[in-house]
Amino acid sequence: MHLPALALSSLLLASTSAYAKITNLVTFGDSYTDQSRLTAFYTNGSIPAHYQEVYPPGAYAANGGSTWVKYAEEFGGLETWNYAVSGASCSNLLTPRHDLGAPKATSGVFPSVSEYEISAFLTDHLVNTTYGGWALDLDPEETIYSLWIGTNDLGVDSLLTGNQIPGVTLVNTTACALNVFRTLYQYGARKFLLMNMIPLQLTPLYSRDATNSRYWKNEFNATSWNIFMTELVTSGNELWRLGAPALAHELKGAEVGLFDSYGLFWDMYHEPEAYGLDNVTGWVAHCPVSGSGNCSYAVSDYKTNGNQDRFLWFDELHPSEPAEKIVAREVVNAIKGSGRITTWYRTPPVKRSSLSSKPASSRTMHPNPPY
Ligand SMILES: *[C@@H]1O[C@H](CO)[C@@H](O)[C@H](O)[C@H]1NC(C)=O
Ligand SMILES: *[C@@H]1O[C@H](CO)[C@@H](O)[C@H](O)[C@H]1NC(C)=O
Ligand SMILES: *[C@@H]1O[C@H](CO)[C@@H](O)[C@H](O)[C@H]1NC(C)=O
Ligand SMILES: *[C@@H]1O[C@H](CO)[C@@H](O)[C@H](O)[C@H]1NC(C)=O
Ligand SMILES: *[C@@H]1O[C@H](CO)[C@@H](O)[C@H](O)[C@H]1NC(C)=O
Ligand SMILES: *[C@@H]1O[C@H](CO)[C@@H](O)[C@H](O)[C@H]1NC(C)=O
Repeated sequence: MHLPALALSSLLLASTSAYAKITNLVTFGDSYTDQSRLTAFYTNGSIPAHYQEVYPPGAYAANGGSTWVKYAEEFGGLETWNYAVSGASCSNLLTPRHDLGAPKATSGVFPSVSEYEISAFLTDHLVNTTYGGWALDLDPEETIYSLWIGTNDLGVDSLLTGNQIPGVTLVNTTACALNVFRTLYQYGARKFLLMNMIPLQLTPLYSRDATNSRYWKNEFNATSWNIFMTELVTSGNELWRLGAPALAHELKGAEVGLFDSYGLFWDMYHEPEAYGLDNVTGWVAHCPVSGSGNCSYAVSDYKTNGNQDRFLWFDELHPSEPAEKIVAREVVNAIKGSGRITTWYRTPPVKRSSLSSKPASSRTMHPNPPY
């Protein structure tokens, strides 16, 4: 038995029973997940501890309604804590977007996962125990931590347009996501769900037919963006596909689920009927390139009819509410251990006797690791 192959193939798919216990969902991410945090930053300037998401009609998410978190809560009977912020990247030390984010945030950036979201979570959930030690108030066996990030790291005003901190690449932004889980692990978290990036090249913003929008007012070459975005997303997801099992191997006792958002949205785009969708190239909200209002809507009553007329996209960049409901169902399936789009990795205790004693140089690397 060769060590590398053994190490990788021993990352077993976990059984259903391990997940039946999960009752808490803690979410990190960007506008695909945020319900009202960025809005609160705009209106209130800072976020109080124990901030509770505001749902329609109080606040509309970037999908025109409620994000998948609310539906996951509903479908899965989960209690949720949502720390995602619209516009967030994984780290403002890598891909900050100065003066585009909340005016009241430092340097007008979007509060990011690494510099804001994790600390907001710790402020709420790291408590002084009776024994004087600090610990999370969420049972690690009953709590899963999700991260859905990358859209802003890769997109306009970031990697795609060369606005990252000089020298930063896709290698850094994807490594950053894995570091988020390492940090949470240090505080006692054990169950993680890494939601990979959707095929951004299929969104109206990055498609070959893209034209100027409120997200990008300058000149650009849609064909060239589409090609580059395809490279970025598929390469980034591949780094995570390799990184997720490696992370599970590194963080003893942790379970890492890799949620294939890419595959899910690819399927929704190419077989919309199977998902109850019928328009995958258009979008609901048509807003002027400049100004913040005066949008027209392909479904005028989308806020009240709840189905956004079976569109895949709400606007040029955001999935619709129906699409996010499908995401919510799949996340709940993943948590219950029955989803087909999530792959789980965990490291069982290593049996010493089965370790290879061959010198490293004589080991054959498996060209296509079997996970
Ligand atoms: C702003 O803060 C007030 C008072 O804490 C709160 O009632 C309100 O919901 C907050 N607004 C948003 C958009 O979060
Ligand atoms: C934590 O709790 C212990 C025991 O109740 C107390 O002595 C200690 O001062 C607390 N620490 C902080 C930072 O509040
Ligand atoms: C980015 O990743 C490279 C390796 O590709 C590493 O050498 C560099 O230190 C990283 N930069 C940051 C800012 O983390
Ligand atoms: C846009 O980019 C494509 C692909 O790189 C290239 O073939 C095409 O010539 C470019 N169009 C213009 C107008 O520069
Ligand atoms: C999709 O929606 C757009 C509006 O954004 C509309 O112009 C287009 O005709 C629709 N396409 C189909 C196939 O229904
Ligand atoms: C909406 O359009 C009107 C008329 O063109 C204009 O006066 C107004 O400033 C616009 N509002 C916003 C918020 O852009």
